[in-house]
Amino acid sequence: MTRPWFETIFDERYPDLFAPLEGDAEEEVEGIHGFLSLPAGAAVVDLGCGRGRHAVPMARRGYRVTGVDISDTMIRMARKYAEREGVEVEWVQEDMRTFCRRGAFDLVLSLFTSFGYFSDAENQAVLDNIGNSLRKGGTLLLDLRNAGKGLSRLEDQDKTIGVPLGRLRMSVRFDRRTMRAKAEHTLERADGIRISSAFDVRIYSMEELMEMLGRAGMEVKDFYGSLTGDPFTDESTRMVTLAIRTGF
Ligand SMILES: C[S@@+](CC[C@H](N)C(=O)[O-])C[C@H]1O[C@@H](n2cnc3c(N)ncnc32)[C@H](O)[C@@H]1O
Repeated sequence: MTRPWFETIFDERYPDLFAPLEGDAEEEVEGIHGFLSLPAGAAVVDLGCGRGRHAVPMARRGYRVTGVDISDTMIRMARKYAEREGVEVEWVQEDMRTFCRRGAFDLVLSLFTSFGYFSDAENQAVLDNIGNSLRKGGTLLLDLRNAGKGLSRLEDQDKTIGVPLGRLRMSVRFDRRTMRAKAEHTLERADGIRISSAFDVRIYSMEELMEMLGRAGMEVKDFYGSLTGDPFTDESTRMVTLAIRTGF
């Protein structure tokens, strides 16, 4: 049986293909830290933590951090990063569709579009796990692309940008029937080597997210245009949902 895309593309190629699109994680963590006023030593889980871009700087600020990712390659990179930085992070290689620790966390982070990869029922299960893993009053920060703008304007897009390693071609095919975006990234390196990967992500509207989060015992406080709490506008690149665990 072929493995689903999200089990295969997050490997050694990922940083070359996606780093040019990433924000500065140190700045983002500084923003989160200032924006949320978390208690000192708060318990934080980064779901789909990748190579620890945010988990490590969060740990450096004294938070008790758990990083969860399905990819052994990403967890290996994250572990090395934490070792280099001399910080303690608990790394867990697990599927976010099953990861759940009742009431264990003050903050759940889901950053740089690490949500929406599965069927609607499975995406809801991820939110249910998040709701169950948060203590009452705990916070979820869900960082997704703004579906109303740019590459994800709910329509097909093709774009090529120059990146340090060569040229990065990005194509998005949006299916209005399934509300899923299939994005293909191809890096044509200056040395002639081509690497590519393809994403398939469900694009949720604000209304859908509010409903799904409500079902998972969370209440949306607001939508922001960045991880630092900038107001959300049609032109925002990101759509950051801040939700609080209420109760069932
Ligand atoms: C777009 S990357 C973002 C990584 C990280 N949040 C960042 O900002 O660099 C999504 C991450 O989710 C992980 N992932 C994909 N499917 C997953 C699953 N079912 N359970 C847990 N992690 C998963 C991938 O391995 C990858 O590291």
